[in-house]
Amino acid sequence: MPGLLLGDEAPNFEAETTQGRIRFHDFLGDSWGILFSHPRDFTPVCTTELGRAAKLVPEFSKRNVKMIALSIDSVQDHLSWSKDINAYNGEQPEEKLPFPIIADANRELAVKLGMLDPDERDKDGMPLTARVVFVFGPDKKLKLSILYPATTGRNFDEILRVVDSLQLTAYKKVATPVDWKPGDSVMVVPTLPDEEAKKLFPKGVFTKDLPSGKKYLRYTPQPE
Ligand code: BEZ
Repeated sequence: MPGLLLGDEAPNFEAETTQGRIRFHDFLGDSWGILFSHPRDFTPVCTTELGRAAKLVPEFSKRNVKMIALSIDSVQDHLSWSKDINAYNGEQPEEKLPFPIIADANRELAVKLGMLDPDERDKDGMPLTARVVFVFGPDKKLKLSILYPATTGRNFDEILRVVDSLQLTAYKKVATPVDWKPGDSVMVVPTLPDEEAKKLFPKGVFTKDLPSGKKYLRYTPQPE
């Protein structure tokens, strides 16, 4: 079945983009990466999403995350659409965006990566791309996948938030609870014995009492 599962390595595809031909692994280098797909160029929701994504590039760069978009139109269409996106952002209507957009006019990559939305079709009856978010780690493995239908725009604050959680939990033995935001307390992972947790988290481990008597709700301040 086409698509990517958590832990899968990113396919090392070659593609034409608005910034030239790329090979995906070379593009990612040693960085984290976000690949996000769009139903079509010159569509309203996509324009607002790409505008917001462009504004957030400094935030993603701070986190060492490279961004790349995909839409099932040509490079020429992407460049022309980029002018609209910049104008939507209140900027000069240039062809340049701060990340490349992959041209997947024949839907080859969209099929391979499981990105098509069967409910949304173009005028020829061909399925459009859904709004997929893939986050890859520096090991090029898939760390997170979110799939929205074409009719629902993404929340890029949430995407930044999950990147913060992914990066924190990749390096520390913690997990982030419901509605966590950077700076909030985190949970000690269930597999870590209490004695080790005490040593690893010098700011303290706070356990909430529960009717079951089981001591699994263990919080600690967010580690540095
Ligand atoms: C949009 O980006 O506005 C859109 C694209 C496909 C279906 C619905 C909305």
